[in-house]
Amino acid sequence: MSLASIEVKPVTPRIGAEIGGIDLTRPLSNQQVDDLHEALAAHQVLFFRNQQLDLEQQKALGRHFGPLHIHPNTPGPAGHPEILPIHADAESKQVAGERWHSDVSCDEEPPLGSILYLHTVPPSGGDTIFASMSAAYDALSPKFKALLEGLTATHSGDHVYRRSNAIRGIDDRDRVFPKASHPIVRTHPVSGRKALYVNETFTTHIDGLPEEESRAILSFLYHHAAQPAFQVRFRWQPDSIAFWDNRAVQHIAMWDYHPQVRSGYRVTVKGDRPF
Ligand code: SIN
Repeated sequence: MSLASIEVKPVTPRIGAEIGGIDLTRPLSNQQVDDLHEALAAHQVLFFRNQQLDLEQQKALGRHFGPLHIHPNTPGPAGHPEILPIHADAESKQVAGERWHSDVSCDEEPPLGSILYLHTVPPSGGDTIFASMSAAYDALSPKFKALLEGLTATHSGDHVYRRSNAIRGIDDRDRVFPKASHPIVRTHPVSGRKALYVNETFTTHIDGLPEEESRAILSFLYHHAAQPAFQVRFRWQPDSIAFWDNRAVQHIAMWDYHPQVRSGYRVTVKGDRPF
């Protein structure tokens, strides 16, 4: 499939497309932005090769899709608060995104999408796996879908960021981290598709249910959503980019390459309150 200004090659029928015929280091035309929006709504995560971006170019790219988000825990490099460094090396004790999540789902208005650029990748490993939460929703039985309808769940950054800070020896006693309640099934504002919106990183419980019922339903949903049939796995090369739609996918970063280096930057585009 091709749109007017880009080449779009689906990686699986459900999720993921490689995008060609575009130079992301340059300002995009309205047609290119519209086509990328259309491809993102259709394929949920877009992959690009051989795009060497500096921080200003990466921020400019993100701003074509909306205002940029500032991470509630991790500061950007000096002068670039909107940049989230993604880095692991021999000294690392943890990496970002080691468990399934949708970025910063603890925000009241969680990010629309994230654009990750890696300039340095290990010789093997370090893949990112993305799972389509709309495909996962579609595969549920009508009776289970009816059970989920109207339920909300609480997402908290507190345990996530405090754990990460403790590992890195950062004192965060004075910090307050975001917490929000969101529908378990959200509707994509562009495609109109329904998607599961709970994840094992940020979601703490289903609102208004006894703890055991909440735990059982969430555990089933995490297990269900992690099926390979809903996934695409991205093998990074230097100067690759993945642009994912946090409203439609979860992802997990494989840290199977220690002590090798994997390094780059993420910009995150602000989103709306899920409905
Ligand atoms: C993230 O969760 O943004 C990190 C993903 C990755 O490093 O592949």
